[in-house]
Amino acid sequence: MKRALALLLAIALPSEAEPPAADEPGDLRDRRLAMVREQIEARGVRHPGVLEALRQVPRHLFVPAELRDRAYADGPLPIGGGQTISQPFIVASMTALLDPQPEDVVLEIGTGSGYQAAVLAALVRHVYTVEIRAELAAEARDRLDALGIANVDVIVGDGWKGLPTRGPFDGILVTAAPPEVPTALTEQLRTGARLVIPVGTESQELRVIERTEDGLEEHPQYPVRFVPMIRGSDD
Ligand SMILES: C[S@@+](CC[C@H](N)C(=O)[O-])C[C@H]1O[C@@H](n2cnc3c(N)ncnc32)[C@H](O)[C@@H]1O
Repeated sequence: MKRALALLLAIALPSEAEPPAADEPGDLRDRRLAMVREQIEARGVRHPGVLEALRQVPRHLFVPAELRDRAYADGPLPIGGGQTISQPFIVASMTALLDPQPEDVVLEIGTGSGYQAAVLAALVRHVYTVEIRAELAAEARDRLDALGIANVDVIVGDGWKGLPTRGPFDGILVTAAPPEVPTALTEQLRTGARLVIPVGTESQELRVIERTEDGLEEHPQYPVRFVPMIRGSDD
């Protein structure tokens, strides 16, 4: 499986030694490589596929133009409507905890800018990503299209319910915090699949919930701070 992932990445992603794309200034690529080294590898994320995906996905194209200069800084950034693009380390850590495999079909709840979806798209076969705010979903879709990322479906909807018409999934990653774990999400996990989710209100923790042959196993990780998951209507 590791060999297959390495092969897939070699095909899908240019190597670190490759010069920057013609339309990308070299300093942005240098800053992105430094971000991966100093903020992510240095803090213990070792998953080779995840590190390579973060080296390749141009994060500066997922933030508002006036904030591009801060795209590779060590923190979240506003993306409009009171929402944020998560800190690069959190994106990397949550993606590694999901343990993505090349043939996986995964669900993301909380598309936001589309950056996390682009990172996942470099690692798995297909990504469904659900965003409750139609304007953010439209902008994310435009960004992904402009980058030629074809294995992501952006869906406007309430992620609290998951995406039952497309599940069960090989992994589910949630980037907004509900006060408790929505049952629909654990129900849409395939056996062996993981749900990576921030849970809580004032104080939140990241959890990994795995569906095993014997039921659900819950593994608390570390404290986090995400925007709240909005609860849509029940119909
Ligand atoms: C921290 S931002 C996500 C960051 C995003 N993953 C990225 O890479 O930019 C959280 C997002 O979750 C969305 N959200 C909140 N509640 C939701 C719900 N019930 N269903 C779907 N999306 C929701 C918000 O509108 C917001 O865009």
